[in-house]
Amino acid sequence: MDIREEIKTIASQVSGEIIKWRRHLHSHPELSYHEYETSKYVASSLREMGVMPQEGIADTGVTALIKGNNPGKKVIALRADMDALPIKEANDVPYKSQNEGVMHACGHDVHTSSLLGTAYILNAVKDKFEGTVKLIFQPAEEKAPGGASLMIKEGVLRDPAPQNILGQHVTPLLPVGKIGFREGIYMASADEIYITVKGRGGHGAQPDRNVDPVLIASHIIVAMQQVVSRYVTPTIPTVVSFGKVIAEGATNIIPDEVKIEGTFRTLDEKWRKDAKIRMKKLAQGIAESMGGSCDFRILDGYPFLYNNEELTRRHRDFAVEYVGEENVVDLDIWMAAEDFAYYSQQIDACFYRLGVRNEEKGIISNVHTPTFDADENALEIGAGLMAWLAVKELQF
Ligand code: NI
Repeated sequence: MDIREEIKTIASQVSGEIIKWRRHLHSHPELSYHEYETSKYVASSLREMGVMPQEGIADTGVTALIKGNNPGKKVIALRADMDALPIKEANDVPYKSQNEGVMHACGHDVHTSSLLGTAYILNAVKDKFEGTVKLIFQPAEEKAPGGASLMIKEGVLRDPAPQNILGQHVTPLLPVGKIGFREGIYMASADEIYITVKGRGGHGAQPDRNVDPVLIASHIIVAMQQVVSRYVTPTIPTVVSFGKVIAEGATNIIPDEVKIEGTFRTLDEKWRKDAKIRMKKLAQGIAESMGGSCDFRILDGYPFLYNNEELTRRHRDFAVEYVGEENVVDLDIWMAAEDFAYYSQQIDACFYRLGVRNEEKGIISNVHTPTFDADENALEIGAGLMAWLAVKELQF
Protein backbone atom coordinates (compact mmCIF):
# COMPACT_ATOMS: atom_id res chain seq x y z
CA MET A 1 0.00 0.00 0.00
CA ASP A 2 1.36 3.47 -0.74
CA ILE A 3 1.80 5.83 2.17
CA ARG A 4 -1.16 8.02 1.23
CA GLU A 5 -3.57 5.08 1.25
CA GLU A 6 -2.02 3.84 4.46
CA ILE A 7 -2.53 7.23 6.15
CA LYS A 8 -6.15 7.33 4.95
CA THR A 9 -6.79 3.82 6.24
CA ILE A 10 -5.32 4.54 9.67
CA ALA A 11 -7.18 7.89 9.84
CA SER A 12 -10.42 6.05 9.21
CA GLN A 13 -9.58 3.37 11.79
CA VAL A 14 -8.74 5.94 14.48
CA SER A 15 -11.59 8.35 13.66
CA GLY A 16 -13.85 6.97 16.41
CA GLU A 17 -11.08 7.54 18.93
CA ILE A 18 -10.51 11.12 17.69
CA ILE A 19 -14.22 11.86 18.14
CA LYS A 20 -14.00 10.47 21.67
CA TRP A 21 -11.02 12.76 22.42
CA ARG A 22 -12.82 15.72 20.91
CA ARG A 23 -15.98 15.11 22.94
CA HIS A 24 -14.02 14.77 26.16
CA LEU A 25 -12.19 18.03 25.48
CA HIS A 26 -15.39 19.77 24.42
CA SER A 27 -17.23 18.81 27.59
CA HIS A 28 -14.27 19.82 29.80
CA PRO A 29 -13.16 23.20 28.43
CA GLU A 30 -10.65 25.36 30.29
CA LEU A 31 -9.82 29.04 29.94
CA SER A 32 -6.54 30.42 28.60
CA TYR A 33 -3.55 29.78 30.93
CA HIS A 34 -5.67 27.33 32.96
CA GLU A 35 -5.55 24.29 30.65
CA TYR A 36 -4.37 21.98 33.47
CA GLU A 37 -6.75 19.05 32.99
CA THR A 38 -6.60 19.43 29.20
CA SER A 39 -2.83 19.29 29.32
CA LYS A 40 -2.89 16.13 31.46
CA TYR A 41 -5.43 14.56 29.12
CA VAL A 42 -3.29 15.32 26.07
CA ALA A 43 -0.16 13.93 27.73
CA SER A 44 -1.90 10.73 28.86
CA SER A 45 -3.49 10.21 25.43
CA LEU A 46 -0.04 10.52 23.84
CA ARG A 47 1.45 8.08 26.35
CA GLU A 48 -1.32 5.57 25.63
CA MET A 49 -0.38 5.55 21.96
CA GLY A 50 3.30 5.15 22.79
CA VAL A 51 4.41 8.75 22.20
CA MET A 52 6.36 10.25 25.11
CA PRO A 53 5.18 13.78 25.98
CA GLN A 54 7.14 16.60 27.55
CA GLU A 55 4.87 18.53 29.88
CA GLY A 56 4.88 21.86 31.69
CA ILE A 57 6.23 24.06 28.91
CA ALA A 58 4.88 27.58 29.53
CA ASP A 59 3.02 25.91 32.42
CA THR A 60 0.39 23.90 30.52
CA GLY A 61 2.04 23.36 27.13
CA VAL A 62 2.88 19.84 25.91
CA THR A 63 5.31 18.80 23.20
CA ALA A 64 6.36 15.42 21.84
CA LEU A 65 8.67 14.09 19.16
CA ILE A 66 7.88 11.37 16.66
CA LYS A 67 11.11 10.21 15.11
CA GLY A 68 11.23 8.50 11.76
CA ASN A 69 14.33 6.98 10.20
CA ASN A 70 17.34 9.28 10.14
CA PRO A 71 15.62 11.63 12.65
CA GLY A 72 18.19 14.43 12.28
CA LYS A 73 17.49 14.89 8.59
CA LYS A 74 14.70 17.42 8.93
CA VAL A 75 12.26 18.57 11.59
CA ILE A 76 8.71 19.79 11.05
CA ALA A 77 6.48 21.18 13.81
CA LEU A 78 2.71 20.66 13.99
CA ARG A 79 0.78 22.93 16.32
CA ALA A 80 -2.61 22.83 18.06
CA ASP A 81 -4.06 25.24 20.61
CA MET A 82 -5.93 23.96 23.68
CA ASP A 83 -7.78 26.84 25.38
CA ALA A 84 -11.50 27.63 25.47
CA LEU A 85 -13.52 30.87 25.76
CA PRO A 86 -15.62 32.51 28.51
CA ILE A 87 -18.92 31.74 26.73
CA LYS A 88 -21.92 29.79 28.06
CA GLU A 89 -22.66 27.00 25.61
CA ALA A 90 -26.15 27.03 24.12
CA ASN A 91 -25.89 23.77 22.15
CA ASP A 92 -27.96 20.83 23.28
CA VAL A 93 -25.51 18.04 22.52
CA PRO A 94 -24.36 14.98 24.55
CA TYR A 95 -20.87 16.50 24.78
CA LYS A 96 -22.07 19.91 25.99
CA SER A 97 -19.67 21.90 28.19
CA GLN A 98 -19.76 20.78 31.81
CA ASN A 99 -17.81 23.84 32.95
CA GLU A 100 -20.41 26.55 33.39
CA GLY A 101 -19.60 29.66 31.39
CA VAL A 102 -16.65 28.11 29.56
CA MET A 103 -16.90 26.73 26.05
CA HIS A 104 -14.76 25.48 23.19
CA ALA A 105 -16.35 28.04 20.89
CA CYS A 106 -13.31 28.47 18.63
CA GLY A 107 -12.77 24.80 17.80
CA HIS A 108 -9.54 24.36 19.75
CA ASP A 109 -10.98 21.03 20.93
CA VAL A 110 -11.05 20.02 17.26
CA HIS A 111 -7.46 21.20 16.72
CA THR A 112 -6.19 19.33 19.79
CA SER A 113 -8.01 16.04 19.13
CA SER A 114 -7.11 16.22 15.45
CA LEU A 115 -3.42 16.63 16.31
CA LEU A 116 -3.68 13.65 18.67
CA GLY A 117 -5.07 11.70 15.70
CA THR A 118 -2.19 12.94 13.54
CA ALA A 119 0.24 11.78 16.24
CA TYR A 120 -1.37 8.34 16.26
CA ILE A 121 -1.10 8.04 12.47
CA LEU A 122 2.49 9.30 12.25
CA ASN A 123 3.58 7.04 15.08
CA ALA A 124 2.11 4.08 13.19
CA VAL A 125 4.01 4.91 9.98
CA LYS A 126 7.25 6.25 11.49
CA ASP A 127 9.35 3.53 9.85
CA LYS A 128 8.15 4.89 6.49
CA PHE A 129 9.52 8.44 6.66
CA GLU A 130 12.79 10.18 7.42
CA GLY A 131 13.11 13.04 9.88
CA THR A 132 11.31 14.15 13.02
CA VAL A 133 7.85 15.54 13.73
CA LYS A 134 7.55 17.88 16.69
CA LEU A 135 4.04 18.10 18.13
CA ILE A 136 3.16 21.34 19.89
CA PHE A 137 0.05 21.55 22.07
CA GLN A 138 0.05 25.14 23.26
CA PRO A 139 -1.96 27.04 25.84
CA ALA A 140 -3.71 30.39 25.61
CA GLU A 141 -4.22 31.28 21.98
CA GLU A 142 -7.15 33.49 22.95
CA LYS A 143 -5.47 35.80 25.42
CA ALA A 144 -2.46 38.14 25.31
CA PRO A 145 0.48 37.70 25.46
CA GLY A 146 -0.48 34.37 23.80
CA GLY A 147 0.69 30.85 24.51
CA ALA A 148 2.74 30.76 21.30
CA SER A 149 5.00 33.61 22.41
CA LEU A 150 5.54 31.95 25.80
CA MET A 151 6.29 28.54 24.26
CA ILE A 152 8.81 30.19 21.92
CA LYS A 153 10.46 31.94 24.90
CA GLU A 154 10.75 28.56 26.61
CA GLY A 155 12.53 27.16 23.57
CA VAL A 156 9.88 25.22 21.68
CA LEU A 157 11.56 26.16 18.38
CA ARG A 158 14.92 24.74 19.52
CA ASP A 159 16.37 21.30 20.40
CA PRO A 160 15.49 20.10 17.84
CA ALA A 161 14.76 23.21 15.78
CA PRO A 162 11.97 22.74 13.24
CA GLN A 163 12.58 24.17 9.77
CA ASN A 164 8.89 24.88 9.35
CA ILE A 165 5.58 24.68 11.14
CA LEU A 166 1.98 23.87 10.21
CA GLY A 167 -1.20 24.84 12.03
CA GLN A 168 -4.86 24.32 11.16
CA HIS A 169 -7.95 26.19 12.28
CA VAL A 170 -11.58 25.26 11.88
CA THR A 171 -13.88 27.50 9.87
CA PRO A 172 -17.67 27.33 9.69
CA LEU A 173 -17.43 29.40 6.50
CA LEU A 174 -16.27 26.31 4.59
CA PRO A 175 -18.31 23.09 4.34
CA VAL A 176 -16.83 19.98 5.92
CA GLY A 177 -14.42 18.34 3.48
CA LYS A 178 -12.98 21.63 2.19
CA ILE A 179 -9.52 22.93 3.05
CA GLY A 180 -8.51 26.59 2.61
CA PHE A 181 -5.10 28.11 1.95
CA ARG A 182 -3.68 31.57 1.47
CA GLU A 183 -0.10 32.40 0.54
CA GLY A 184 1.64 35.41 2.05
CA ILE A 185 0.01 37.76 4.53
CA TYR A 186 -3.12 36.10 5.86
CA MET A 187 -4.25 37.43 9.25
CA ALA A 188 -3.91 40.82 10.95
CA SER A 189 -1.94 42.23 13.84
CA ALA A 190 -4.24 43.31 16.66
CA ASP A 191 -3.45 45.98 19.24
CA GLU A 192 -5.68 47.22 22.03
CA ILE A 193 -6.41 50.94 22.34
CA TYR A 194 -7.22 52.48 25.74
CA ILE A 195 -7.99 56.20 25.83
CA THR A 196 -8.97 58.25 28.87
CA VAL A 197 -10.24 61.71 27.97
CA LYS A 198 -10.07 64.16 30.83
CA GLY A 199 -12.13 67.31 31.10
CA ARG A 200 -13.86 69.12 33.97
CA GLY A 201 -17.32 67.92 34.89
CA GLY A 202 -20.23 69.94 36.21
CA HIS A 203 -23.89 70.82 35.70
CA GLY A 204 -25.19 69.97 32.27
CA ALA A 205 -26.93 73.36 32.16
CA GLN A 206 -23.60 75.18 32.30
CA PRO A 207 -21.40 73.70 29.57
CA ASP A 208 -19.48 77.00 29.29
CA ARG A 209 -18.10 76.51 32.82
CA ASN A 210 -16.97 72.93 32.19
CA VAL A 211 -14.68 71.11 29.81
CA ASP A 212 -16.89 68.43 28.31
CA PRO A 213 -14.95 65.15 27.90
CA VAL A 214 -17.95 63.52 26.15
CA LEU A 215 -17.77 65.99 23.29
CA ILE A 216 -13.96 65.66 23.13
CA ALA A 217 -14.24 61.85 23.08
CA SER A 218 -16.80 62.05 20.26
CA HIS A 219 -14.41 64.16 18.17
CA ILE A 220 -11.57 61.73 18.86
CA ILE A 221 -13.65 58.71 17.79
CA VAL A 222 -14.62 60.41 14.55
CA ALA A 223 -11.08 61.65 13.87
CA MET A 224 -9.64 58.16 14.39
CA GLN A 225 -11.51 57.03 11.29
CA GLN A 226 -9.12 59.26 9.31
CA VAL A 227 -6.29 56.94 10.31
CA VAL A 228 -7.92 54.38 8.04
CA SER A 229 -9.24 56.71 5.33
CA ARG A 230 -6.43 59.27 5.03
CA TYR A 231 -3.13 58.25 6.66
CA VAL A 232 -2.46 54.79 5.29
CA THR A 233 -1.88 53.84 1.70
CA PRO A 234 -5.14 52.24 0.49
CA THR A 235 -3.35 49.00 -0.37
CA ILE A 236 -2.69 48.14 3.30
CA PRO A 237 -5.86 46.87 4.98
CA THR A 238 -6.44 48.61 8.30
CA VAL A 239 -9.22 48.55 10.87
CA VAL A 240 -9.96 50.86 13.79
CA SER A 241 -13.03 49.98 15.85
CA PHE A 242 -14.18 51.23 19.25
CA GLY A 243 -16.42 48.86 21.17
CA LYS A 244 -16.49 50.52 24.56
CA VAL A 245 -17.21 54.13 25.52
CA ILE A 246 -17.90 54.96 29.16
CA ALA A 247 -19.06 58.40 30.30
CA GLU A 248 -20.60 58.12 33.72
CA GLY A 249 -22.47 61.39 33.85
CA ALA A 250 -26.25 61.74 33.62
CA THR A 251 -28.84 63.67 31.63
CA ASN A 252 -27.83 66.77 33.55
CA ILE A 253 -24.27 65.92 34.61
CA ILE A 254 -21.15 66.36 32.52
CA PRO A 255 -18.61 63.79 33.82
CA ASP A 256 -14.94 64.47 34.56
CA GLU A 257 -13.66 61.82 32.20
CA VAL A 258 -14.57 59.39 29.44
CA LYS A 259 -12.97 56.03 28.76
CA ILE A 260 -12.75 54.62 25.24
CA GLU A 261 -11.52 51.15 24.25
CA GLY A 262 -10.95 49.78 20.81
CA THR A 263 -8.88 47.68 18.47
CA PHE A 264 -6.33 48.53 15.81
CA ARG A 265 -5.57 45.92 13.14
CA THR A 266 -3.39 45.93 10.10
CA LEU A 267 -1.06 43.88 7.90
CA ASP A 268 2.15 45.89 7.82
CA GLU A 269 4.62 46.21 10.68
CA LYS A 270 6.06 49.61 9.67
CA TRP A 271 2.64 51.15 9.25
CA ARG A 272 1.56 49.54 12.52
CA LYS A 273 4.33 51.48 14.32
CA ASP A 274 3.63 54.75 12.49
CA ALA A 275 -0.11 54.46 13.06
CA LYS A 276 0.32 54.26 16.82
CA ILE A 277 2.27 57.53 16.84
CA ARG A 278 -0.27 59.18 14.53
CA MET A 279 -3.26 58.09 16.61
CA LYS A 280 -1.73 59.27 19.85
CA LYS A 281 -0.81 62.68 18.41
CA LEU A 282 -4.25 63.12 16.90
CA ALA A 283 -6.11 62.21 20.10
CA GLN A 284 -3.93 64.38 22.30
CA GLY A 285 -4.08 67.31 19.85
CA ILE A 286 -7.88 67.22 19.77
CA ALA A 287 -8.18 66.96 23.54
CA GLU A 288 -5.79 69.87 24.12
CA SER A 289 -7.36 72.09 21.48
CA MET A 290 -10.68 71.66 23.28
CA GLY A 291 -9.26 72.45 26.71
CA GLY A 292 -8.95 68.91 28.02
CA SER A 293 -6.27 66.26 27.98
CA CYS A 294 -6.02 62.65 27.06
CA ASP A 295 -4.12 59.61 28.17
CA PHE A 296 -3.57 57.38 25.14
CA ARG A 297 -2.32 53.84 25.64
CA ILE A 298 -1.95 51.09 23.09
CA LEU A 299 -1.13 47.53 24.14
CA ASP A 300 0.66 45.40 21.60
CA GLY A 301 -1.21 42.26 20.65
CA TYR A 302 -0.25 39.55 18.14
CA PRO A 303 1.72 40.45 15.01
CA PHE A 304 0.34 39.75 11.53
CA LEU A 305 0.35 36.15 10.34
CA TYR A 306 2.51 35.43 7.34
CA ASN A 307 2.19 32.20 5.37
CA ASN A 308 5.51 31.56 3.63
CA GLU A 309 4.65 31.58 -0.08
CA GLU A 310 6.70 28.59 -1.21
CA LEU A 311 5.80 26.42 1.74
CA THR A 312 2.11 27.27 1.44
CA ARG A 313 2.01 26.68 -2.34
CA ARG A 314 3.69 23.34 -1.78
CA HIS A 315 1.24 22.30 0.94
CA ARG A 316 -1.72 23.42 -1.12
CA ASP A 317 -0.48 20.97 -3.78
CA PHE A 318 0.02 18.23 -1.17
CA ALA A 319 -3.53 18.86 0.09
CA VAL A 320 -4.87 18.50 -3.47
CA GLU A 321 -3.21 15.07 -3.57
CA TYR A 322 -4.99 14.08 -0.36
CA VAL A 323 -8.49 15.61 -0.65
CA GLY A 324 -8.74 16.36 -4.39
CA GLU A 325 -8.56 19.62 -6.36
CA GLU A 326 -12.29 20.27 -5.90
CA ASN A 327 -11.88 20.36 -2.13
CA VAL A 328 -9.05 22.88 -1.88
CA VAL A 329 -10.03 26.54 -1.92
CA ASP A 330 -8.13 29.83 -1.84
CA LEU A 331 -8.86 32.15 1.04
CA ASP A 332 -9.10 35.90 1.35
CA ILE A 333 -7.26 37.97 3.97
CA TRP A 334 -8.95 37.70 7.36
CA MET A 335 -8.62 40.65 9.79
CA ALA A 336 -8.84 38.54 12.93
CA ALA A 337 -5.62 37.85 14.83
CA GLU A 338 -4.04 34.53 15.78
CA ASP A 339 -0.99 33.87 17.94
CA PHE A 340 0.30 31.29 15.42
CA ALA A 341 1.64 34.54 13.89
CA TYR A 342 4.52 34.42 16.41
CA TYR A 343 5.78 31.16 14.92
CA SER A 344 5.35 32.63 11.43
CA GLN A 345 7.69 35.49 12.37
CA GLN A 346 10.40 32.99 13.37
CA ILE A 347 10.31 30.13 10.85
CA ASP A 348 8.55 29.24 7.59
CA ALA A 349 4.91 28.66 8.49
CA CYS A 350 1.64 27.61 6.92
CA PHE A 351 -1.68 28.14 8.67
CA TYR A 352 -4.64 26.68 6.82
CA ARG A 353 -8.37 26.21 7.35
CA LEU A 354 -10.39 23.11 7.97
CA GLY A 355 -14.05 23.32 6.89
CA VAL A 356 -16.52 22.24 9.62
CA ARG A 357 -19.83 23.59 8.28
CA ASN A 358 -22.77 21.27 7.66
CA GLU A 359 -26.06 22.97 6.79
CA GLU A 360 -28.03 19.70 6.84
CA LYS A 361 -27.00 19.10 10.44
CA GLY A 362 -27.63 22.77 11.29
CA ILE A 363 -23.93 23.39 11.96
CA ILE A 364 -23.64 26.95 10.69
CA SER A 365 -22.80 29.18 13.67
CA ASN A 366 -19.70 31.30 13.63
CA VAL A 367 -16.75 30.83 15.97
CA HIS A 368 -16.92 32.71 19.31
CA THR A 369 -20.72 32.25 19.54
CA PRO A 370 -22.67 30.10 22.08
CA THR A 371 -24.01 27.88 19.27
CA PHE A 372 -20.73 27.18 17.47
CA ASP A 373 -20.17 23.50 16.67
CA ALA A 374 -18.14 21.48 14.18
CA ASP A 375 -19.14 18.58 11.97
CA GLU A 376 -17.10 15.75 13.45
CA ASN A 377 -16.45 14.28 10.01
CA ALA A 378 -13.83 17.04 9.79
CA LEU A 379 -11.73 15.24 12.41
CA GLU A 380 -10.72 12.29 10.25
CA ILE A 381 -9.89 14.64 7.37
CA GLY A 382 -7.99 17.11 9.58
CA ALA A 383 -5.94 14.41 11.32
CA GLY A 384 -5.13 12.46 8.16
CA LEU A 385 -4.36 15.52 6.08
CA MET A 386 -1.90 16.91 8.62
CA ALA A 387 -0.12 13.55 8.83
CA TRP A 388 0.09 13.49 5.03
CA LEU A 389 1.42 17.07 4.87
CA ALA A 390 4.07 16.26 7.47
CA VAL A 391 5.24 13.14 5.66
CA LYS A 392 5.34 14.96 2.31
CA GLU A 393 7.28 17.89 3.79
CA LEU A 394 9.82 15.56 5.36
CA GLN A 395 10.28 13.88 1.98
CA PHE A 396 10.64 17.24 0.22
NI1 NI B 1 -9.13 30.01 17.48
